[in-house]
Amino acid sequence: MSQKETRSPVQAWSGRFTEPVSERVKRYTASIPFDWRLVPFDIQGSLAHAAMLHQVGVLSAQDLMDIRRGLGEILAAFEAGDFPWTLDDEDVHFTIERALTRKVGDAGKRLHTGRSRNDQVATDVRLWLRDAIDRIQALLREARAALLDQAGRHADTVMPGFTHLQAAQPVTFGHHLLAWHEMLARDGERLADCRRRVNRLPLGAAALAGTSFPIDRGFVAQELGFEALCENSLDAVSDRDFAIEFLAAGALIMTHLSRMSEELVLWMTPRFGFIDLPDRFCTGSSIMPQKKNPDVPELMRGKTGRMNGHLVALLTLMKGQPLAYNKDNQEDKEPLFDAVDTLVDSLAIFAEMVPGIRVRAGAMRRAAIEGFATATDLADYLVKKGLPFREAHEAVARAVRAAEEQGLDLADLPLATLQGFSPLVDEDVYAVLTLEGSLAARDHIGGTAPAQVRAAVVRARGRL
Ligand code: ARG
Repeated sequence: MSQKETRSPVQAWSGRFTEPVSERVKRYTASIPFDWRLVPFDIQGSLAHAAMLHQVGVLSAQDLMDIRRGLGEILAAFEAGDFPWTLDDEDVHFTIERALTRKVGDAGKRLHTGRSRNDQVATDVRLWLRDAIDRIQALLREARAALLDQAGRHADTVMPGFTHLQAAQPVTFGHHLLAWHEMLARDGERLADCRRRVNRLPLGAAALAGTSFPIDRGFVAQELGFEALCENSLDAVSDRDFAIEFLAAGALIMTHLSRMSEELVLWMTPRFGFIDLPDRFCTGSSIMPQKKNPDVPELMRGKTGRMNGHLVALLTLMKGQPLAYNKDNQEDKEPLFDAVDTLVDSLAIFAEMVPGIRVRAGAMRRAAIEGFATATDLADYLVKKGLPFREAHEAVARAVRAAEEQGLDLADLPLATLQGFSPLVDEDVYAVLTLEGSLAARDHIGGTAPAQVRAAVVRARGRL
């Protein structure tokens, strides 16, 4: 195609220009290849804007009716998968405005009165993100419910709790899952808080300074369900904090899912053998016939990287921008869209995977025993009998070394042997050396005693 043929008299702003942009520039500057996802929200915003213009006497009743009919048809077509666009249309806002004008004539050309694409796009992205947050919140709740079900089922299942990935003290599997639940519960709080700042109306800021038309921003906010107005027009068109905050909250969600995934991967290796995942969440190897790989949790761990990348991308996008709107901001969309897709997919699959976790209670218990997980209980026992903690720690350390050398658990050592490490040891020591004794002793809010785990599940269900 020659330059001449690509000349774009169609461009809404081309009146001021003496030569057209090149095909390359057109492609470079267009956002329609990705911002078409805003269509329903752009239409929602336009309907509210048009209703307001009519309300304040700027738009006739006939024009409003035409606009409503035209936008309704465009939305219906979009929902049916029919939304044609070309690069000449540049972005979703021009594409819809042109389609509307083709349908209803002059009314379509009047819609943009008192508005700019700058406040329009900021409104669209906020509406879109608000909807995305609500979808993500629902999925977070599903994932949390799945964790709570498993936690309740395994309130008595013993496993070693780890520090430094070394067996530390016995915990229940239910208690471990409740720790995961807490992470996701905080994620929900963060999103709810972020939503309040997403849910403010930029429309009315126009290009940057406001508009000379007698607009009613409160009316538009109410129509669109915004809780508040952006208070300053310059800030309204340039602020993307709300998107950055969302990505930060999203990065934490993925960080949490990634940590959980890492544990699933570890637990699934025969070295641990704590759990098994159903085949539908795993894949095989093209060369090693025996393999069953935990691809889903691995990918979830991997996708955390792209999420963090999106957060850094938007932070970087903003750091050098003078007020007010700059075209840089067009770059906010793809990271945001991909972030939401990643979160929605990851949370949905996680919620589906959790009920499928098959627990190998025997392997968990063996690992707790082999790891001398009740050593602290023995030390606490000696302290309760009057020994200073440091000395108790030392005595138990020697007992562990001896047990290890003989290939025995602490509970297998004869009373006489244990008394060799401290004369305070008595027959009642064996009660604290059992895994169940150790668990039951941690009987306070936040502790791993099975009764506490069950109570925590009930409380958490109440918070859902
Ligand atoms: N496509 C643009 C964006 O995503 C819409 C706003 C364009 N405004 C402008 N003055 N060029 O940011």
